[in-house]
Amino acid sequence: MILINNIYKSFRGGVGERRNHVLTGLTFRIHEGKVTGFLGPNGSGKTTTIRMILGFLQIDQGEIQFGDQLGGCLQSAKNKIGFMPEDSSFGQQLTGREFLTYMGTLARISSAQIRMQIEHWASRLSITDALGRQIKGYSKGMKQRLAMVNALLHDPQLLILDEPLAGLDPIGRVEMREIMQELKHQGKTIFFSSHIISDVERVCERVVLLDRGQVLFNSPLSDLVATTAVGDRYTINYHSSASGREGESAEVTGEEKEQLIASIIQDGGTIDRVTPEVVTLEEAVYNLQDRG
Ligand SMILES: Nc1ncnc2c1ncn2[C@@H]1O[C@H](COP(=O)(O)OP(=O)(O)OP(=O)(O)O)[C@@H](O)[C@H]1O
Ligand SMILES: [Mg+2]
Repeated sequence: MILINNIYKSFRGGVGERRNHVLTGLTFRIHEGKVTGFLGPNGSGKTTTIRMILGFLQIDQGEIQFGDQLGGCLQSAKNKIGFMPEDSSFGQQLTGREFLTYMGTLARISSAQIRMQIEHWASRLSITDALGRQIKGYSKGMKQRLAMVNALLHDPQLLILDEPLAGLDPIGRVEMREIMQELKHQGKTIFFSSHIISDVERVCERVVLLDRGQVLFNSPLSDLVATTAVGDRYTINYHSSASGREGESAEVTGEEKEQLIASIIQDGGTIDRVTPEVVTLEEAVYNLQDRG
């Protein structure tokens, strides 16, 4: 749907400082109909990348290609993309409803459609009660919710969300994740940044992992966990003839596992449980970064 092709971007440092090379040959795709998580530590260039995709920031080198579904170029893609910025400090003097109505009008949506969309999404994001109040009185989480309603107003094909879960309370996080799932089932494409790996793990089918200006990993989530599996380690819980009621446990490799099981049984013991070690995405990512 979007191809980010060999992008370079650097910023001028302060006086006497070296140029800050943020992206050095960044390449990945945003696949249609998938939820892609864009992971990377603070300052790794996630927001910079998103701003370049949306045309807010110039690219030093490389190119971004928009697929036919998006009309083939940024200009025609724009009204098919919904964007939620990282830090939304827009229209402070307006009420939530005024802001959304204004944004909907800019996006050339009919006023009936605007009203319908506001009602639907504000209710889904539990922000309806605050719509009559000025945005400057909103909490961070309320601003996030309002920004999400805004991103969804024109029923976009592609959602680009910069840290959509940041600043939300646990209930808000669940609600936001549910909405992302729902949108996915409607066939929407979602690209969202986060540095919280467990959030990505819960909703994403693909991950793009940014590290030192490049993509360290870009593939389905299951591949990431599979290719970085720490090794074949197992925990064996067993009763030997001598261990009594409590039982014992041992951590072994796949090879040792066979031997240990054989010898326990030979000695008249019993095997209670053999558990393969589960690699979390968190561990997988740290394994990758250590190797890099
Ligand atoms: N306009 C700018 N001028 C100078 N440096 C910038 C500018 N925008 C970003 N940078 C630098 O580029 C790097 C990447 O910043 P970016 O905001 O893209 O990171 P991020 O991955 O979004 O981080 P975070 O997780 O904190 O949101 C940082 O070192 C930042 O200081
Ligand atoms: Mg950012």
